[in-house]
Amino acid sequence: LKVGIVMGGYSDESNVSLKSGEYFYSQIDKLKYEVFKVIILKEGWGVSIENTLYPIDRGDFSFNLNGSKIHFDVLLNTIHGTPGEDGLMQAYWQLLEIPYSGCSFYNSALTFNKKDTLSVLKKYNIPMASSIYINKGENINPTEIVDKLQLPCFVKPNQSGSSLGVSKVKNIEDFLPAVQKAFEEDSSILIESYLNGKEVQVGVINYQGKVLVINTTEIISKNEFFDYEAKYLGASEEITPAKLSSQENKNIKEMAARIYTLLNMTGFSRLDFIIVNEIPYFLEINTTPGCSPASIFPQQVKEAGYNFSDLLDNEINLALH
Ligand code: DAL
Ligand code: MG
Repeated sequence: LKVGIVMGGYSDESNVSLKSGEYFYSQIDKLKYEVFKVIILKEGWGVSIENTLYPIDRGDFSFNLNGSKIHFDVLLNTIHGTPGEDGLMQAYWQLLEIPYSGCSFYNSALTFNKKDTLSVLKKYNIPMASSIYINKGENINPTEIVDKLQLPCFVKPNQSGSSLGVSKVKNIEDFLPAVQKAFEEDSSILIESYLNGKEVQVGVINYQGKVLVINTTEIISKNEFFDYEAKYLGASEEITPAKLSSQENKNIKEMAARIYTLLNMTGFSRLDFIIVNEIPYFLEINTTPGCSPASIFPQQVKEAGYNFSDLLDNEINLALH
C-alpha cells in the first residue's frame, strides 16, 4: 500500500505541520506500507525522497519516480491551516477518488470556521463563551463591544490555528490593535468573552467502531494565555491526564465525545475547552491536531498507553473503508 503523509500548507502553521508530518513518518510502520513524505507548500508540491523533491502532478496527485508514475493508495493528512485543515485538499482528493484520513472535506471546512462551528453547536446548547463576529470593512465600535463582552476579552481570526493572530485584550486601548493583528490572519474575526477557568484539551478518535476519548490535558500557560510561545517554545505546563475532579472528568469526556459525534468527525481530533464550575465551555475543535514534538496529541496518546503506529493503522483503515 502506497501511503502519502501530507504536510506543510500555505499558512503560518506550515512549519508546525512539517514537524507533525515528520512525527507521523517516524511512527508509521514502514514494514507494512510504502511511505512517502508529501510536501505541500506555496512554493510548490512535491514528494521528498532522500532530500530530492519529485514534483506532484496536480492533475491526478501522482508523481514520477525513475520513469514510473506513482499513485497513492491513501493519504494521511497532517496539514494545519489551509489547504488541508479547511477541506480544500480533501475535496480535491475526493474528486480524484484518493482515500484520505480525517473527517470529510465538508466537516473540515465547517470545523475550521470557528464562527460556523459555534453556530452549529449553539443549536445543541453546547456551553460556549459569548462572541461577536466581524468581517473586514465593517464599522467597529470598541466601547459597544467591550460593554457587551467585558474585559478581558479574546480577539481571534475566524480561521487560523496555533493561536496566530490571537490576543487577550485587557485595556480598551489595546482593542483595535488586536483587531488589526487578527485581520492579518483572516478576513473575518471573532471576539469572545473571557472564561475564567481551567483550560483542558481532549484528544478524540474513532477506534474499533467507537468514539474513543484518548486523554485530557490541562494547560497552565506562563503567558497571558496558551499563545504560540506557550504552545511551542515551552512557556507552559501541560498536565496529562488533567487533574480534574471526577465530575469534571466525566463532564468533559462526555462533552468531547458528544461534540465529536454531533460534528460527524472521523479520525484524529483535539477539542479545546475551558472548565468553569465543572462545566466545559467549548472553544474549538482541531481536525489535524498538532503532532510536533511539543504538541499535546502525541503526549496524550503516549500517556494513555496507546501506540501511535497502531493509531496510524487505524486512520488508514478508516480512510479505506
Ligand atoms: N493548530 C495546531 C497545530 C493544533 O491544533 O495543534
Ligand atoms: Mg486550533
